[in-house]
Amino acid sequence: MRWIVLIAATGLLAGCSGGSGPDDSSSSGTSNTDSGSSSSGSAVEVQTVDLSYLPAPYSEADYDTGRRLFRRCGSCHTVAAEGGNRAGPNLHGIFGSTAGTVDGFDYSMTLENADFVWTPEQLDGWLANPREFLPGNRMSFVGLREEEDRRNVIAYLMHETGYSAAD
Ligand code: HEC
Repeated sequence: MRWIVLIAATGLLAGCSGGSGPDDSSSSGTSNTDSGSSSSGSAVEVQTVDLSYLPAPYSEADYDTGRRLFRRCGSCHTVAAEGGNRAGPNLHGIFGSTAGTVDGFDYSMTLENADFVWTPEQLDGWLANPREFLPGNRMSFVGLREEEDRRNVIAYLMHETGYSAAD
């Protein structure tokens, strides 16, 4: 939402600033007239991803905040398809997959024997308190206490790991 407003505002500014019509090629830097699109955007540097295709409440989440939060996971986990395992398993395709089944990762017995499928809801429980969610697992992470943090990071993960509605 925010960036749509920003781009609209930028467009307006560009539209107003010239003041002398489309042949005003003298203005340096502020805008150009060759396409009329809002592509210049040095002011709009925010990388925003539209998450509205996700189910609620993840459709309302903030991608950039989620990406920032994921730095706490990123030392141990990758999200890209070929990201590989680190201290923790690769998370690509995690949603809809059975817990503890990433190829080539040496899980704790606890996670290996766990018999459930990762959904956003399960992940919410896991991230809120990994130790309580599945006692005996080996993920040394205290958890994300704030519901909003979990929502943002889960939505980021859904987007980055290839979640699809069928999962
Ligand atoms: C210090 C390293 C570390 C950090 C930080 C960490 N994890 Fe993990 N994670 C692990 C390990 C190790 C496992 C496997 C645990 C086991 O085998 O019991 C794991 C397992 C998982 C699993 C289950 C994967 C599967 O194949 O079933 C998910 C999902 C997960 N982590 C998500 C996250 C997210 C999201 C974050 C950040 C909010 C995070 N982890 C932070 C190390 C980490």
